[in-house]
Amino acid sequence: MADGESSVGYPSTGAFAIETRGLNLWYGDFQALFDVDLGVKKGIITSMIGPSGCGKTTVLRTCNRIIERLGYVRTTGSVYVLGHDIFGDDVEIVQVRKQVGMVFQRPNPLPISVRDNVLFGFRLHEARLRKVARAEEDEVLESALRQVLLWDAVKDRLDRPATGLSLEEQQKLCIARLLPVKPEVLLMDEPCSALDPAGTEAVEEMIWQLRGDYTILIVTHNMAQARRASDECVFMLLGRIVEHGRTEELFLAPEHTETADYIEGRYG
Ligand SMILES: Nc1ncnc2c1ncn2[C@@H]1O[C@H](COP(=O)(O)OP(=O)(O)OP(=O)(O)O)[C@@H](O)[C@H]1O
Ligand SMILES: [Mg+2]
Repeated sequence: MADGESSVGYPSTGAFAIETRGLNLWYGDFQALFDVDLGVKKGIITSMIGPSGCGKTTVLRTCNRIIERLGYVRTTGSVYVLGHDIFGDDVEIVQVRKQVGMVFQRPNPLPISVRDNVLFGFRLHEARLRKVARAEEDEVLESALRQVLLWDAVKDRLDRPATGLSLEEQQKLCIARLLPVKPEVLLMDEPCSALDPAGTEAVEEMIWQLRGDYTILIVTHNMAQARRASDECVFMLLGRIVEHGRTEELFLAPEHTETADYIEGRYG
């Protein structure tokens, strides 16, 4: 299919930060995704829901090509990030990962200081291009930590190991360290699942504040979180997208019985 054409009736207008077309994915012989056509709009929060094993993590991991770390994965179809086919021959994977940052279920800070965690990606990308002064690093560090509402809590512990922070703080830090390279998209795979209720609330509130500055695609098992914290919602089942719409409408008047069954808790 030529660039700009569409399998689902809309042209590649650039309205989407992420767009998949006819995406199929196999782990070895097992097909995990079937013909996934997903358009994630720029600058809003899209939540992704569906029962365990329906392919949510797989979709996220495909969108920044992290899935390829597994040698036995095969895909067909296309994934566009900001209009560019990320499976294209001329694509630099480092650029893709810079544009599309990812946060995992369990916070995974590096076993280095808070400061070095936040500046890790920035140094990697910027140091290739130019010498960065300490004063600029300090600004980048403070700005990233402020955006995730963590600055006040850690400003006196910047040189202490990040692994000593609480889980909530660690997850905020893992989001903060993506920001200095100015990603367009943040993929979050159940970012609150390891947190207690207070931590969940704090991190959700923070994610909501990032709305507008970033395109966010967030997987959650928490219906209340999806409903409260997202503009659009995608419901997946058995490797397919069943329904995608405005969150309010999807919860109030789902078009498909499978969606209704899921949001009403009739299956896992
Ligand atoms: N590394 C892997 N190797 C083989 N099969 C896998 C692998 N990862 C996931 N799968 C399979 O692919 C399907 C989709 O898995 P995925 O992890 O994407 O689901 P999910 O919706 O994120 O589930 P959960 O809500 O439990 O996180 C499942 O059947 C799963 O068993
Ligand atoms: Mg998952």
